[in-house]
Amino acid sequence: MEDSIRLQAELRQKILEAKQILNIYKPLIDAYIVDFYRLNHWHNLSPSWIRCFTNIPISQLPELLTFECRNKETIVWPLTVLALRSLFRRLVHTREKEASLEHQTKPICVYQQQATLFQKSVKLKKRHEIEQFAFNCFSERALGGGRRTLVDIGSGQGNLARTLAYGFGFRLCCLEQNKSFVHVARQKDAELWRQVAKNNPSLRDSVIHPVHLHETVNLEAIDPEAFVQLLRDALNIEKEQQPDSPFQFGLIGLHPCGDLGPSLLRLFLACPECHFVKLVCCCYMKLTVVGMVENTPTPNERGFPLSEFCRKANLSLSYEAREIACHAIEQYREKLLRADYLELKVHAYRAAIESIIVRMRPDLRHAGLKSGIKATDVSFEEYCERAVAGLGIVIPREETHSDQTRHNLDHWEEVVKFYTLRLMFAPLVETIILYDRLLFLLEQGANARIDVLFDPLLSPRNHVITAFK
Ligand SMILES: C[S@@+](CC[C@H](N)C(=O)[O-])C[C@H]1O[C@@H](n2cnc3c(N)ncnc32)[C@H](O)[C@@H]1O
Repeated sequence: MEDSIRLQAELRQKILEAKQILNIYKPLIDAYIVDFYRLNHWHNLSPSWIRCFTNIPISQLPELLTFECRNKETIVWPLTVLALRSLFRRLVHTREKEASLEHQTKPICVYQQQATLFQKSVKLKKRHEIEQFAFNCFSERALGGGRRTLVDIGSGQGNLARTLAYGFGFRLCCLEQNKSFVHVARQKDAELWRQVAKNNPSLRDSVIHPVHLHETVNLEAIDPEAFVQLLRDALNIEKEQQPDSPFQFGLIGLHPCGDLGPSLLRLFLACPECHFVKLVCCCYMKLTVVGMVENTPTPNERGFPLSEFCRKANLSLSYEAREIACHAIEQYREKLLRADYLELKVHAYRAAIESIIVRMRPDLRHAGLKSGIKATDVSFEEYCERAVAGLGIVIPREETHSDQTRHNLDHWEEVVKFYTLRLMFAPLVETIILYDRLLFLLEQGANARIDVLFDPLLSPRNHVITAFK
């Protein structure tokens, strides 16, 4: 109890300090990179930053995107940047995995024995996420905290559930709103099980197959009693159970996006049978916040803020801030380190195209350029053609080759520097969102914590929030 009170006080203090920083740098954080030329973002930086960053080579920028290690600093940054870096060191929740966790002994289980079967046709990123999430659930169980039954909401094609059931011996109930995903999940379960059982026939007596329900969880008003009844029916659990072993389950979610994450935390708190929750959340820009919908969202509809403290403090985060918090910081840092200049030019290409579009058709401002086109593979002209496909506009050659466009593209390094500066604040925004969630759980009496679960280079939304009651 005392620990929880101390932790709550610490989180409140950090959230307030972080928010003060975000307020000061709001114009930078809220500045879309696509508007770089149109709104002259470079000249909105402070004169001392412009002086410094005009002369700094791109190869020095990666330093700005990591602030945990001091002794590798090679640049004398402007004082404000130094001050920010020092504050980030204290306020930002680490994004690096504890070295001791990296080398934990792996459990002896079916997954370990038949890993290649489980990993077949699963992309490296997803494989890493599933493996780490499953090991983490397994170690909670070994410590006596996790129960055997897990409920995966927003389970997609059931990749995590399949691994947890056949590889780690959990009983799984999945709820997914997308019917075709549910169908694929059942098919993939059958395929994997056939091969796992062939190699290990003794499992036939003990395995519990995952149950996949095609269900949409009502985010605004989940009825905990009806929800538990749904689980009991799906898992065939008798209503009348022995009093010494009541039905309990853990709620899990791998990338429940937007408001789904906060709704699952509320479900955990509202449901006596839900013993623990474990979530890695994403897509913060999709969160419902005050001022976004016509009527003020009720506490149950709100995605941010959740905690009483942040609500009373009227804490808010702009869409742009929540959006930058979802970027892949470490992957961008790698691009800078690799000096992958052609790839780094993408933001400049897009900003140059946006300024042409807005000049020609102001109604198409922020209409959304196509992404996923590799600047390394195509010329600017071709990039332009592909990026506007679907917008109903053709950009003439005079525009792609105009003096203005050429001038813009010649200044691509400024775009990279500006983007890096904006990205530098992303972990602070994410920390506020994570700490608000942690505080919410602690305020409600749960025992909660945040750990780094994934390698941020492979999977940038890498924090897992775990709570018990
Ligand atoms: C980002 S995906 C993650 C899928 C899966 N957990 C994974 O990691 O591969 C989020 C999933 O949640 C599902 N979803 C979103 N809101 C839901 C709701 N209210 N009820 C059930 N499923 C939902 C979506 O259809 C989608 O498949």
